[in-house]
Amino acid sequence: MTNILLSGANGKMGQAVTRAIEQNDLVTISAGFDINTEQKAGYPVYDDLSQVTEPVDAIIDFSHPAMLDRILDYATAQNIPAVICTTGLSTDQLSRIEYESKNIPIFFSANMSLGVNLLIDLVSRAAKILEDQFDIEIIEKHHNQKLDAPSGTALAIADAIADTVSYPAEYTYDRHSVRKKRDKREIGIHAVRGGTIVGEHEVLFAGTDECISLKHTATSKEVFAVGAVKAALFLKNQKPGLYAMKDLIAAQ
Ligand SMILES: NC(=O)c1ccc[n+]([C@@H]2O[C@H](COP(=O)([O-])OP(=O)(O)OC[C@H]3O[C@@H](n4cnc5c(N)ncnc54)[C@H](O)[C@@H]3O)[C@@H](O)[C@H]2O)c1
Repeated sequence: MTNILLSGANGKMGQAVTRAIEQNDLVTISAGFDINTEQKAGYPVYDDLSQVTEPVDAIIDFSHPAMLDRILDYATAQNIPAVICTTGLSTDQLSRIEYESKNIPIFFSANMSLGVNLLIDLVSRAAKILEDQFDIEIIEKHHNQKLDAPSGTALAIADAIADTVSYPAEYTYDRHSVRKKRDKREIGIHAVRGGTIVGEHEVLFAGTDECISLKHTATSKEVFAVGAVKAALFLKNQKPGLYAMKDLIAAQ
């Protein structure tokens, strides 16, 4: 049995992970970590990691960037692998994840769904072929409670395109303040917020007289929760290092 410490236990994703783990005989949640310490399921929730006395084999984090340092301090001190799913992290925080991954296994993905990771792969391939003739725009849509914009996934898609194309790509987040024609090197990134949309990412390749659009739609948060649980099980057997969805897919 793998014992999970669930960070952000009382959030929407924390509750989705709780439901996913209830369906999985290989995993259990031994404790939760959250600023809201209400006990909603069969495990205690702490707001201070020094209070955790339960066994912990891996951490799953869907919380808030403000929690990251405490999670990494705990994980490195206890030598426990961590699956970091929180988005909106700063460049310094991403650097710390990379640094600590020399000591413990860390899984980091802005999107834990298999489908989105396939989308990133397909988009990279399309960008390689279409880069000279097509303008590339990313449109992401999420619910009205989401804090960060654009989504971590939209940025991951943009980064994958930027790594593929032969020119130095420029990310353009809004066009209202500048009156000028679109530059060929731009990747437009647009965030739509409304209602209860779980997550939609579309990449539009707009050429002369033709458009291609690649799109992924998540209809429930469960896909991310199931992916995070799989990542925790995968990470338990890994050496220190920084792992991503492509490593999990390759190991299937
Ligand atoms: N990687 C992925 O696939 C993926 C998928 C969905 C959501 N996310 C990310 O996971 C995180 C959580 O998403 P959610 O929808 O469950 O959010 P949520 O707001 O419902 O839950 C966040 C939880 O973190 C807790 N928290 C701890 N410290 C906090 C602080 N300093 N400020 C505010 N809240 C704090 C809150 O109490 C809450 O229980 C977000 O960063 C979101 O973007 C990632």
